[in-house]
Amino acid sequence: AKATLMIDRSAIVARVDRRLFGAFVEHLGRCVYDGIYEPGHPAADGDGFRRDVVELVSELGTTTIRYPGGNFVSGYRWQDGVGPRDQRPVRRDLAWHSLETNQVGLDEFARWAKLTGSEIMMAVNLGTQGVLDALDLLEYANHPSGTQLSDQRARNGTTEPYGIRMWCLGNEMDGPWQIGAMSADDYGSLAARTAAAMRMAQSDLELVVCGSSSSSMPTFGHWERVVLEHTYEHVDYISCHAYYQERAGDLGSFLASSLDMEYFISTVSTVADEVKLAKNSSKTMKLSFDEWNIWYLDEHRESHEVSETEWPIAPRLLEDVYSVADAVVLGNLLITLLKHHDRVASASLAQLVNVIAPIMTEPGGPAWRQTTFFPFSTTSRMAKGSVIRPVITCDRYETALYGMADVVDAVATLADDGVASVFLVNRSVSEPATIVIDVRGLGVSRVSEAHLLHDDDPYAKNTLAEQDRVGLRPLHDVVLDDGTLTLTLPPVSWAAIGLA
Ligand code: AHR
Repeated sequence: AKATLMIDRSAIVARVDRRLFGAFVEHLGRCVYDGIYEPGHPAADGDGFRRDVVELVSELGTTTIRYPGGNFVSGYRWQDGVGPRDQRPVRRDLAWHSLETNQVGLDEFARWAKLTGSEIMMAVNLGTQGVLDALDLLEYANHPSGTQLSDQRARNGTTEPYGIRMWCLGNEMDGPWQIGAMSADDYGSLAARTAAAMRMAQSDLELVVCGSSSSSMPTFGHWERVVLEHTYEHVDYISCHAYYQERAGDLGSFLASSLDMEYFISTVSTVADEVKLAKNSSKTMKLSFDEWNIWYLDEHRESHEVSETEWPIAPRLLEDVYSVADAVVLGNLLITLLKHHDRVASASLAQLVNVIAPIMTEPGGPAWRQTTFFPFSTTSRMAKGSVIRPVITCDRYETALYGMADVVDAVATLADDGVASVFLVNRSVSEPATIVIDVRGLGVSRVSEAHLLHDDDPYAKNTLAEQDRVGLRPLHDVVLDDGTLTLTLPPVSWAAIGLA
């Protein structure tokens, strides 16, 4: 296959905001317990946090971390997770049919977030709680001192307020699986009242209202319209959630998953702009793609049914082991988020550790990188400055799910110091792609680094037994000559190239 690309400063989309490289820690399975937190592990610090995991999170380069759910938040009482640990209740978590010991709550999580240099993006419970509870949590987290809840925080060990700016108004309230799921009208009204009240307490909050749980929800589009009609003036972001998986051996469609993400972004943007017009508002609604990843959801539905009588603590749930193909798709989804960074201002890879995660751990044992770790960490490290959307002319292929798809997809960034980065995928399942890129407009003269994610077996994975089976390798024969960059990508591969 062949592709020609033109990368020029005239096609700048946005400045890279580090919030695009967010992630998500939910009280689900082994994400918190036996994931980030495992007192007794040889690498655990005095607070019980695994320092080997902290190191991997730093290497991954995540920024904002969404917490504490997810579906979990809709049954959560945040008060259970603060104060003396031996007095915290054990409760049922209905979302994941598990027991929540509450040994980690906001104060512990905030300590962990500090260790990793992360900004917290906090979710309030709008499934089984409401305005007052959201205000109480905001007071506990952000009020300086001299009130009941801020003084309680101080007594619990944290005098300085956390200063949490980003707040999710509930989670996936359109999903019938959500505890306390609502109609768009009911949710829109509750979210508007909650947002308005939270702003009375603190005007500079950045509030995220729930959009659709996927583009295949029967209410997709309608939900966004109704919810934004209620909340437009009160919120800053509407959320998008999307998970992809290879189904029925259709690797070609799976590799083109980012076309669905594009459709998601353009549909929600259009609906939001219609509401903007109807309200005669000067504000453009931003998108928070606060759950995105590969998730073999169908397989979990079949094999992870927890029995009615079982209430395990930190069970192994949603522990997908990712392949090279999964990592290529993840790299492509990041390319898509960057290409639409003018509209998608914030994003969170769901999730971070053990649960559909780039980092895996074994209790008492090692922590290691999944295949998906590599495109994320590399993009987070190399994407700097301005995002440039390339003009791509290339061969196309037919997919069962999305119609015709380009074989090659790419995006570039140009940093203020003149260093440029190009991120590319070859979606072909069988053909190498020869790619010729016009970079004359970037003012670069040499290739400073070139990394490839590929394996002859697209289903190769990293496992406990073989933790380093897949990693980045150097991409050879990348030639920059007189403003033309030439390279070849093997089938089912992702690459990142630095130019200086
Ligand atoms: O990330 C796993 C789950 O996916 C989250 O709890 C929920 O919000 C979504 O359905």
